[in-house]
Amino acid sequence: MKKRVILSVVLASVALFAEGNVTKEIKEQNPNKAVMMQGIKHIKILGKALKTEVGKNLKADKTGVKAAEFCTKNAKDVAKKAMADFPENIKVRRVAIKYRNPNNKPDELDLKVLNQLKEAVESNSSKVMPVVIKAYDNTTRVYAPLKVEKACLKCHGDVKSMNADVAKIIKDKYPEDKAIDFKEGDFRGAAVAEIKAK
Ligand code: HEC
Repeated sequence: MKKRVILSVVLASVALFAEGNVTKEIKEQNPNKAVMMQGIKHIKILGKALKTEVGKNLKADKTGVKAAEFCTKNAKDVAKKAMADFPENIKVRRVAIKYRNPNNKPDELDLKVLNQLKEAVESNSSKVMPVVIKAYDNTTRVYAPLKVEKACLKCHGDVKSMNADVAKIIKDKYPEDKAIDFKEGDFRGAAVAEIKAK
């Protein structure tokens, strides 16, 4: 069955993960603000939970081996635990054009938005834009773009300059890995909040 993708795409010029006046900007600019705020709130909760754990592991072991083991084995559980406190109608997942885990392969609508976000990031890397789009089934999706930071390169950078053990852990778990060879500032993908109308 062909999914029908209709209604509005709302863009706001917001540097999403730069803290500070983000919330204010969203409030001022976005007509769909309530949904967008709800999505971003939950994306941030999940992002923070994951980042905290990856950070802890990186601190304990600077080679990145511990962190890579965490990402391949336990990240799912941390995400699950964070989402257990979410309202039942809200889920957050991650997608990417160049994905590592096949479970994060974009669907048709994801791909459309990812391409749009990629273009936005590449044409003006200091201003990335969240996208709110009404999908099917009374579901609204909020896409928050993710950019590659220096710390991400340990596991998503040039394989030759990665720690050999980290590269091996990743290659063993994801033989078809596409999420490598990124550079700092590149568009990495998006966190997507899916909000079902109640
Ligand atoms: C310690 C290694 C490590 C670091 C550091 C790391 N990642 Fe990942 N990343 C992974 C692994 C492993 C997966 C696959 C997780 C899974 O199975 O869902 C992944 C998956 C992802 C995904 C989901 C889409 C996909 O490709 O499957 C995104 C988006 C992502 N990472 C972005 C980032 C960003 C942005 C940073 C830096 C802020 C980062 N990662 C840092 C190891 C890492």
